[in-house]
Amino acid sequence: MSMVGVAARRIVTADPARCTRDNPLGVVENAVVVYDEHSISWIGPRESAAKVPIIDHGDRVITPGLVDAHTHSAWVGSRHDEYAIRMAGGDYRAIAAAGGGIVSSYRAIEAATEDHITETLTARLQRMAELGVTTCEVKSGYGLEPDGERKQLRAIGRARKNRTLPHVVATYLALHALPPSAKSSRDHYVLRVATSLVPEIANAKLASFVDAYVDENAFTVDEARIVCEAAKRVGLGVRLHIGQFADVGGAQLCAEVGAKSADHLEHIDAEGMALLARSGVAAILLPVASFTMNQAPPPVAELRAAGVSLVVASDANPGTAPSESLPLAMALAVRMYGLTPTEAILGATRLAAASLGLWGGGVPHPRGALAPGARADMVVWDLPHENAIVQPWGGPKTWVVLRDGVRIGGAAD
Ligand code: NIG
Ligand code: FE
Repeated sequence: MSMVGVAARRIVTADPARCTRDNPLGVVENAVVVYDEHSISWIGPRESAAKVPIIDHGDRVITPGLVDAHTHSAWVGSRHDEYAIRMAGGDYRAIAAAGGGIVSSYRAIEAATEDHITETLTARLQRMAELGVTTCEVKSGYGLEPDGERKQLRAIGRARKNRTLPHVVATYLALHALPPSAKSSRDHYVLRVATSLVPEIANAKLASFVDAYVDENAFTVDEARIVCEAAKRVGLGVRLHIGQFADVGGAQLCAEVGAKSADHLEHIDAEGMALLARSGVAAILLPVASFTMNQAPPPVAELRAAGVSLVVASDANPGTAPSESLPLAMALAVRMYGLTPTEAILGATRLAAASLGLWGGGVPHPRGALAPGARADMVVWDLPHENAIVQPWGGPKTWVVLRDGVRIGGAAD
């Protein structure tokens, strides 16, 4: 593919080199992005663009491709029964304790073939691409037993090789729930994960990150620490589910092990927030989950004031966030959590990419913002302004979605 260009009246770059107090999204007007399948080579005014074929999208707005930094998208099956029970007053943690919740998705994964998981994930990622997502983090965590986790991670790895889908970042969600076989051997389960599974998965290059669910009725800080230390020894990054239902000290662990992100945070105290800020741990906000669970939002104003980077993600999963839509999460982040539209857009592009190690720190060909040298991941929205993206549309509003310069979604003919 040789160099080509896309032009529009508004191009949101999110490039820190262009972002200022008056122009926090680094918008350039009446501009062109010149790119090929490797990277963006130039962004600037239409009249100075090199002589390459340019498609002019007129009054539509262009942004970086969306980056969904927290999903459980490799699930199969349905948890509608449990949803009905919860809506009638059933408690999520009580349902989990009775063998529903995560364990019911474990049974579905146990019964599924790797091909079926791959096909379901592929179709889901295609729908996400239609919504504007060009990078998607995907966690395992419904395998629970070694074979099931391997099977899920291999399916994620197959999706990662498919360049017609969003770019996939794989996370081994090592501690999510205890499988029925481990109910009476909790310590052994945690140790086997740390000493055997984490090194094996790193060796097989099946994941870039390790995650653990640190909460009341889930795993303790001490259990998660064992797994985080194992991850660090083999060069895997750490991201942690913390404070969804109770603050059990997860923020302290995130700071201690140098996690890239602390996710959920409905329950976190001032000291925890200060620690996240000081240690450069991003807060990943999951408003679809707190909407579904009818929970009060995390302390967003305090997180902002503490200087914590605010990322927005879908948490796509069959239990607590049965939606595949990052734009819906962005809309709820604005409506329910009080993020500004600018914060929601940065939190679903450059800041999300940074939390995945895809932007910043000298990474070659970064993702998450439009800048020379960055990957040509972008969305032409069938909308006139970036602030229109964060309204709750309930359907895709993309015109053209490009990943690595190649179209993977959008409604244009
Ligand atoms: O992020 N909190 C734990 N994990 C998921 C829920 C998973 C499930 O219920 O299947 C979450 O909300
Ligand atoms: Fe989650």
